[in-house]
Amino acid sequence: MKIGVFDSGVGGLTVFKYLEDVLPNYDYVYLGDNLRAPYGGRDDQTIYEFTRQAVDYLFQKENCQLIILACNTASASALRRLQQEYLPTLNDPHKRILGIIIPIAEAVPRLSKKGKIALIGTKATVKAATYDDEIAKAWGAVRPTEKMYLYKEAAPLFVPLVEEGLLENRATKFLARQYLRPLKKYRPDTLLLACTHYPLLADLLAGIMGKSCRTILPGPIVAASLAEYLQRHTEIDELLSKGASRRFLCTAPPQAFNNLSSRFLGYGVAAEQVLVG
Ligand code: DGL
Repeated sequence: MKIGVFDSGVGGLTVFKYLEDVLPNYDYVYLGDNLRAPYGGRDDQTIYEFTRQAVDYLFQKENCQLIILACNTASASALRRLQQEYLPTLNDPHKRILGIIIPIAEAVPRLSKKGKIALIGTKATVKAATYDDEIAKAWGAVRPTEKMYLYKEAAPLFVPLVEEGLLENRATKFLARQYLRPLKKYRPDTLLLACTHYPLLADLLAGIMGKSCRTILPGPIVAASLAEYLQRHTEIDELLSKGASRRFLCTAPPQAFNNLSSRFLGYGVAAEQVLVG
């Protein structure tokens, strides 16, 4: 049985990259719903439905045992409902859907010096209270006597700019300053890049925030957390096949996905188009 990695599109490859680095021997299937991306401006019900269809495809057609929602938007908006309403319908106690928010939230008390956290993400991620709730829970468990503040800002235009490859463009730099200005005034010590695309802008964003602010990329944290999870849950690990295979699927004609893959993953892939939903 494989590990499924789901994202609304190509961006989740920034997470997948670290998963295969840390856990190279597993069999992976990556599914990007790029026909219906971006998800970030959509309402919760639509994000839930699209994500449910995609994970159902991975479980039923691709023999996945465990699925990582590499997408911040899907993790923020749909994960809890998937676990509560959809997963029980599979009648298999060993199927798992894991998001990326809890591992990131649990890393915050260790990574933030002063508990002043800035977060940028899609509109749906920022609107959802998931990051707020999980960071507050994780912070309270580790540093209960210290205050923690979370400041959030949606930065939706980064997604098309990154996909267009405009990483160094003046328009991107201008927008980055605009998006970060309201956050900078709180003097945060930590910046969470809560969207799959933003790690490609990490240097630019870090430069704007300044040296006293640490930038956090989801990928390495999520990969370390999955490794630890599989060590703890040997009953799941035993069901996962370890043939080091990779399969890339997308819902739109694959050319655009394939062209973008090297920028997000570091090497080009040949994805297959599949019909989901
Ligand atoms: N993958 C999405 C996320 O991490 C960004 C792209 C989208 O809006 O679909 O939130």
